[in-house]
Amino acid sequence: MSDAPHAPVLLAEVIEALKPAPGDVVIDTTFGAGGYTRAILATGAEVIALDRDPTVQPHADAVAADFPDRFQLVRTPFSGLAQAFADSGKARLDGAVFDIGVSSMQLDQAERGFSFMRDGPLDMRMSDEGETAADIVNGWDHGPLAHIFKLYGEERQSGRVATAILRRRAEQPFTRTLDLAEVVEKALGGRRGAPIHPATRVFQALRIAVNDELGELERGLEAAEATLAPGGRLAVVTFHSLEDRIVKAFLTERTGNAPAGSRHAPIAVDPRKPSFALQFKGAREAGEAERAANPRARSAKLRAAIRTEAPAWAPEKRRMAA
Ligand SMILES: C[S@@+](CC[C@H](N)C(=O)[O-])C[C@H]1O[C@@H](n2cnc3c(N)ncnc32)[C@H](O)[C@@H]1O
Repeated sequence: MSDAPHAPVLLAEVIEALKPAPGDVVIDTTFGAGGYTRAILATGAEVIALDRDPTVQPHADAVAADFPDRFQLVRTPFSGLAQAFADSGKARLDGAVFDIGVSSMQLDQAERGFSFMRDGPLDMRMSDEGETAADIVNGWDHGPLAHIFKLYGEERQSGRVATAILRRRAEQPFTRTLDLAEVVEKALGGRRGAPIHPATRVFQALRIAVNDELGELERGLEAAEATLAPGGRLAVVTFHSLEDRIVKAFLTERTGNAPAGSRHAPIAVDPRKPSFALQFKGAREAGEAERAANPRARSAKLRAAIRTEAPAWAPEKRRMAA
């Protein structure tokens, strides 16, 4: 484990949104270093924590030592939230929190392969299962590669990057992060005073694809909707627009605020009742002090809602896989 502590982002705002009370049961779907979990436990509530990264275990052991009766960690992606809750035998779920993305521990460990600044194997898996980033860059065709760079990285020159990758891997497959970062940088014409490293967007895209981050988020939100009790509270912290768009669209729809069809394309009135009520309009962001102290907080957005009595909506049809 890296020594770098992961500073929990928007912690006070998250606790305010969850309002945990003694006896409540809250699922922390992204345990990480346990920053949120500890703050929830401090209120007297119980926490079921989820994380798909096995390396969080030492943090969980430390929390379990302090709160032996009110804490457990389940190693699962958060799309498995409903199952984890069912397995816990608890009767009522009062809160669920998502703090999406990678932790600073994951970024700081070169051997995890998330960083284009530190040399490491081209891995990027949060868990230890499934396809790695190397499998993707060495194995996928030009079309799907360019597609994820554009869709998940918002890389405008996605085709050019994919072409450079295919050309290079024909001679020698990619195995290291810095090697890929250099090829991407060259394909994009060098740094030329760019405010961010030219490989930032491609690395983001690969990370999202390797971990199916957006699909996980959609399924996780639906699982929270299906599992939270009436009055239960949902809080979601995101770090980039692709994630926030999903949360915003989910809550807009589930609070009954999705736009109706136009007069050119009228739709029948949606018979489904809102399954959530917003706690506040829009998204909360970090204040000046937190932004100054923690650069990660600068892009953070918190949205929060309260579960109504209405039944959960049927899961949406999935976006097309990349
Ligand atoms: C930003 S950190 C969470 C930090 C935590 N809130 C804290 O205060 O320490 C995100 C964590 O969520 C985990 N994670 C990300 N996506 C996940 C998913 N789909 N299912 C389960 N865990 C996930 C990562 O492995 C990482 O440990």
